[in-house]
Amino acid sequence: ILCSYQNQSEKIDLKELKMKKIILDCDPGHDDAVAILLALGNPEIDLIGVTTVGGNQSLDKVTYNARAVLEKAHATHIPVYAGCDRPILRSQEVAASIHGESGLDGVELSVPTRPLEDMHAVNYIIKTIMESDSQTITLVPTGPLTNIALACRLEPRIVERVKEVVLMGGGYHRGNWSAVAEFNIKVDPEAAHIVFNEPWPLTMVGLDLTHQALCTPAVQKRIEEIDTPLAHFVSGLMDSFRKAYQDNQDFQDPPVHDPCTIAYLIDSAVVQTRRCPLDVEIHSELTLGMTVADLRGSEPSAKDCHTQVATKLDFDKFWDLVTDAIERIG
Ligand code: BDR
Ligand code: CA
Repeated sequence: ILCSYQNQSEKIDLKELKMKKIILDCDPGHDDAVAILLALGNPEIDLIGVTTVGGNQSLDKVTYNARAVLEKAHATHIPVYAGCDRPILRSQEVAASIHGESGLDGVELSVPTRPLEDMHAVNYIIKTIMESDSQTITLVPTGPLTNIALACRLEPRIVERVKEVVLMGGGYHRGNWSAVAEFNIKVDPEAAHIVFNEPWPLTMVGLDLTHQALCTPAVQKRIEEIDTPLAHFVSGLMDSFRKAYQDNQDFQDPPVHDPCTIAYLIDSAVVQTRRCPLDVEIHSELTLGMTVADLRGSEPSAKDCHTQVATKLDFDKFWDLVTDAIERIG
């Protein structure tokens, strides 16, 4: 749908205006790869850039993986910017037990044709937010929060300009990297502490929600039936992800965490939320990286509380979105 704007030569695509502009800050990672595909293949989302952070594997590996996934999805128009290669204070800890030596074990990766951008991811995030209209850019971190925390410190004005932050990390009932801490938060808890305590609207899509996003054999069959090279690529990723979760996390089917953030942005009815104060433990050895949600009393208003947690996933709608996206990409 096109409408005239100011003069005949300037046209604005109304549909484009409605799309949510996101920067996906990720560490692919099997489930990060699915998040990239969901963002690319859904018409509500305008994926303007992908930034990477050391997390599931080293920065070099996850950056290559992000570019390889975009290549596989014929999305060489999307720029990729590499960010921080280690946490702010701590030494790096990767998740090779889940994502393998490459970070995307189980599939053959396409060789990226688009060169990596020169700019550091943190500078790209700041530049994009400062040069865009206020309240138009959403940040979607699906790895450790190192890049986002440093962006806040380097240019604090981004905080009031960002529309919202929707991140995968944490959990209000349990952890996966310790009894109470989730991987993305546990490996860089100081970064998470900074990000959770900035006053921007923040949605924590944590393990309570993402453990509902299981890739069951029936879901995987649906993906395979799309029968494109991309669908078989995703199915290969899920085979390896399933085995890793069976061997290391006592799961039968793998929870596909990261695309739940994108699903929430596409349709908030797919992911129910509960508003509550949130903070990150950074002092205790035992509970380091725990995301503490204060769920006492009645739910506060958005005016009084800038954070919320994701609680319940509409499983069928979620997988409809993922399979539609894979199909649409072709
Ligand atoms: C999170 O950690 C990573 O291994 C996944 O990609 C996801 O972002 C789940 O704890
Ligand atoms: Ca991730």
